[in-house]
Amino acid sequence: MSIESHLVENRIFQPSREFSKAARIGDLAEYRKLYKASIADPEKFWAKQAAKLRWQKDWTKVLQWKCPFAKWFVGGKLNVTENCLDRHLEGARRNKAAIIWEGEPGEKRTLTYHQLHREVCKFANVLKRNNIKKGDRVLIYMPLVPEASIAMLACARIGAVHSVVFGGFSAESIKDRLADCGAQVVITADGGYRRGQMVTLKQNVDRAIEGNAAIRRVIVFKRANLDIHIAEGRDVWWHREMDYVTADCPALGFDSEHPLFILYTSGSTGKPKGILHTTGGYLLGAQFTTKTIFDLREDDVYWCTADVGWITGHTYLVYGPLANGATCLMYEGAPNWPEPDRFWKLIADYGVTILYTAPTAIRAFIKWGDEWPAKHDLSSLRLLGTVGEPINPEAWMWFREKIGGSRCPIVDTWWQTETGAIMITPLPGATPTTPGTATLPFFGIDAAIVDDAGKELPANEGGKLVIRKPWPSMLRSIYGDKQRYKDQYWTEVKDCYFTGDGARRDEHGYFWITGRMDDVLNVAGHRLGTAEVESALVSHEAVAEAAVVGRPDEIKGQGVVAFVTLKTHAVVHADLKEILRKHVGEMIGPIAKPDDIRFADALPKTRSGKIMRRLLKEIAGGGGVTGDTTTLEDLSILAKLSKSDD
Ligand code: PRX
Repeated sequence: MSIESHLVENRIFQPSREFSKAARIGDLAEYRKLYKASIADPEKFWAKQAAKLRWQKDWTKVLQWKCPFAKWFVGGKLNVTENCLDRHLEGARRNKAAIIWEGEPGEKRTLTYHQLHREVCKFANVLKRNNIKKGDRVLIYMPLVPEASIAMLACARIGAVHSVVFGGFSAESIKDRLADCGAQVVITADGGYRRGQMVTLKQNVDRAIEGNAAIRRVIVFKRANLDIHIAEGRDVWWHREMDYVTADCPALGFDSEHPLFILYTSGSTGKPKGILHTTGGYLLGAQFTTKTIFDLREDDVYWCTADVGWITGHTYLVYGPLANGATCLMYEGAPNWPEPDRFWKLIADYGVTILYTAPTAIRAFIKWGDEWPAKHDLSSLRLLGTVGEPINPEAWMWFREKIGGSRCPIVDTWWQTETGAIMITPLPGATPTTPGTATLPFFGIDAAIVDDAGKELPANEGGKLVIRKPWPSMLRSIYGDKQRYKDQYWTEVKDCYFTGDGARRDEHGYFWITGRMDDVLNVAGHRLGTAEVESALVSHEAVAEAAVVGRPDEIKGQGVVAFVTLKTHAVVHADLKEILRKHVGEMIGPIAKPDDIRFADALPKTRSGKIMRRLLKEIAGGGGVTGDTTTLEDLSILAKLSKSDD
């Protein structure tokens, strides 16, 4: 299969001389030289970088590679939190702000490295007090408050494995993830704030664990003063527990390959995959990319707008910046609360210098109007970044001009939950940028575009984006399912990691990502498996069959369209569409709610019974059906489906 890419974009922006002069990597020739060396001998390259972390025991072998299973820094021992916290207490960073937090209603808190260290050590002792041990899985379901980071770091401190579930996911989603990772302990909050509303986190947890005797402890952080149910003997308050412990919690060294966290993400089946990351390699990826790609300086005020529930939050809100001793802004709520200038106000108030956000947010800001950023002084910004989906050139240009004052470089960073850290990106002082391309691979990353047979394609031909060599922050497996890990990532193209993305490389070697090639949608920068939404729909009593596809969406990148056939005897309410949308919201979370539901007597199928998604995509996108329909069983279905009744 070849993928066509029609986008032609010729604007080139050189890094400013001023930025380049101060940058770690100051020109393209230097990047190319270092990149070449890093690919010629990745082990040597990574070993040199890894030596800058703090190890309690040195490794004996940089990489043990039995495709597709990697072990990095074999025999080495380290503690992630010693690298993120203790290290910084020894010098000038001791009293530097680590986290500057603002709640949606406007409360402000600052934690210095010293204070964050203290909180993490205390909470790690709370975990121990509750009999949580090395290797135990702990599910974290929190609002975006410093305690979310503290909970993650406390797990890392004692070698427990965290699995953060985004606070926007439903009780059902928590249930599935608990069952898969086998966590016996949940850390949550009474609630959180989102767009002026309260998110009832503890209530969702209660529903998720109802009748689940395996859950022996729920630790509840008081955030929202909600009246919640406390189950005697199972639930405890965070603040009460903290009264029983000291801040003395030594950072024991864990094996470099000890699991650090599991993070669930959507794949092409109905069941989310538990992506497993381990200690040394992940920390190295997080630390080194943050420092190099954001060209981090001691006096930066760095803001990554992602929630800790996503990989971006893990790597670029928690582990990466803290491993570099950075000052991070953390904001709990919505970008348009109480007004659409909240982000710009935060930037002006705190003097943010680096802003890392998502194209979907940028498109929403464009829609809300230029007057909102214009009200604020954004001159503190020196670098901008985007992540999560392809950025359309108009959004890129708006970001550059209206937010970056045509002065700040933009790093369009391509990566995935699985890759752990940024893989393809400009280096802000070195790489000339063009709107819409993530440009060049990062050091040590051997990215290529190949055809179905695994052969590298010439410039400007679309194909599969693969990574040909292992890298330290790569996923190690799908939790509990090595076979699925192999099948999913390592069989499509021999001896290569297949990203699931399509892309092309232009004549300068720049990568243009065209999007997912599998049945995964990218809705507002978040991955959503069509099969997940389908099984949520089918779990409703009225639904016989469902097929879900994406359609272009101005703000969200992709919108969700569901084609549904109902059971013969189903009771059809007038508001069935709304009922089904709500049902999907309850089964997965609000982000998965279909934008459009179309009812049909039948779905277009091949003679062998396979749903013809390609046709549905064309219908959902609003265009006529242009593709081949020769294998379609019943042509009249198409005509019916094309008519939307709203
Ligand atoms: O399709 C690519 C898209 O997001 C997918 C990864 O999603 P997730 O694991 O949720 O991680 C998102 C944050 C790292 C990729 O397979 N994607 C991510 N970044 C970009 C992108 N597509 C184009 N350009 C990007 N910069």
